[in-house]
Amino acid sequence: MQVVGDSRHRSVKRTLVREQGDNKEDPATCEQLQIMKAYIETFGCQMNERDSEIIAHLLGRASYSPAADIDTADLVVINTCSIRGKAEQKAMSLLGRLAIRKKKEPRLKIVVAGCVAQQEGQKIIDRVPQTDLVIGPQEIYRLAEYVEEVTRSGKSIVATGLIDNFAIPNLGHVSPAPAVSRFLTIMQGCNNFCTYCIVPYTRGRETSRPAADIVAEAEEMIDSGTTEITLLGQNVNSYGLDRGEKEAFPALLRQVAALPGLKRLRFTTSNPKDLSPALADCFKELDKLCPWFHLPVQSGSDRVLEKMNRKYKRAEYLERVAALRKACPNIAITTDIIVGFPGEEETDFLATMELIKQVRYNSAYSFKYSPRPGTVAAGFADMVEETEKSRRLTALQARQNEITLEINREYEGKIVEVLVEGCGRDPGQWRGHSPENLVVNFTADDKKVGIGDYLQVKIGRGCKNSLRGKAV
Ligand code: 5AD
Ligand code: SF4
Repeated sequence: MQVVGDSRHRSVKRTLVREQGDNKEDPATCEQLQIMKAYIETFGCQMNERDSEIIAHLLGRASYSPAADIDTADLVVINTCSIRGKAEQKAMSLLGRLAIRKKKEPRLKIVVAGCVAQQEGQKIIDRVPQTDLVIGPQEIYRLAEYVEEVTRSGKSIVATGLIDNFAIPNLGHVSPAPAVSRFLTIMQGCNNFCTYCIVPYTRGRETSRPAADIVAEAEEMIDSGTTEITLLGQNVNSYGLDRGEKEAFPALLRQVAALPGLKRLRFTTSNPKDLSPALADCFKELDKLCPWFHLPVQSGSDRVLEKMNRKYKRAEYLERVAALRKACPNIAITTDIIVGFPGEEETDFLATMELIKQVRYNSAYSFKYSPRPGTVAAGFADMVEETEKSRRLTALQARQNEITLEINREYEGKIVEVLVEGCGRDPGQWRGHSPENLVVNFTADDKKVGIGDYLQVKIGRGCKNSLRGKAV
């Protein structure tokens, strides 16, 4: 993602911008003045993507304009993810390449943000001294100030404050460009401490934004042309619990769904242990709430779920799936699964295989367990061999792909509503999502189609990753 600059906010000092047709040399404005360009590389989840939008907004306000690519940037922000080792390595290898460039171009500023920044702090600067700023997720709101300080002093800064009861600043409408579908953060952090997970350490305790801030931001998004909003948080269905409010999430859904101009409402991610009947009922009650639920199961084995500290059993999970399907028979359910958790035996893995058959998920994100520093599971003795983890992952993904394809084929001949989000890969093709959050690629013959339209599309083919069809 790139920074979206706002020329109205560029300070005169840094700009060389002239009125068109003004060719006269002006010594005052020619003095070493430069437009600073910034580039943000984002790894990881939607929370990070949203944080990158905030960073872009703040840098735009601080006179930075977007760099066309990373090589022409004066400031590079690497917004890192540490959920698994691979994501962390990718970010660190980019940092290594930038450090080499900085040796030749000392004025380049390098910022490491996000979860790796929070987790590693000063160690990043010890390893790569070319890093100017290491900044954790709760500190990004002050990123521009820190960059200014680093520029002034020439000294690196580590900003990794992480407090309980952190109040998420209300920045108003932070959007790099108007978009028909947007994410809206409603809470940050996680209190669950699943034993494999780094998030509670890097993003801190759960803090919910006040409903009034969320509704105001949703209204601004809608005014700018957004018609689909996805409420975002690590564990959205415990929204409000940090303030002692019960069932605040269903209430928030009702409030946002009532906004005129909004057509579709979604949310992600939810923990099965907090899925209340009141939340399931929202799918009956709220027309705008899309029939899609991301409900990470992680494992189908009670023994493994307990070691993961998930606080639900397989049977309870299945009851919640049944409650959702009772409230909304056409609901699409997706999940996250980890294979090769320490101590996972073949029988545990087979229980997960059996569970995906039983639930028939529309799709699943699946991962090999990756030990994360400081987490409880990283200290477990009975690690599963890497080759065995790979075998299990391949088997699980193959089975899930079959299920996904079977479900997608059931759409053949049906008509689905699609929010048009952009052009497809081939000329004349369009792309969007169905209410169930399925990707739909479609053609429209000579019909006029625009981004943001809601169209009826007849599905001709259900594929592994998408539906294909034609606008009717
Ligand atoms: N190893 C593998 N997968 C993980 N996840 C979280 N932590 C780990 C880990 N240490 C997965 C979980 C979670 C998703 C976002 O990432 O499935 O739901
Ligand atoms: Fe991690 Fe568990 Fe919290 Fe999800 S609920 S962010 S997996 S600790």
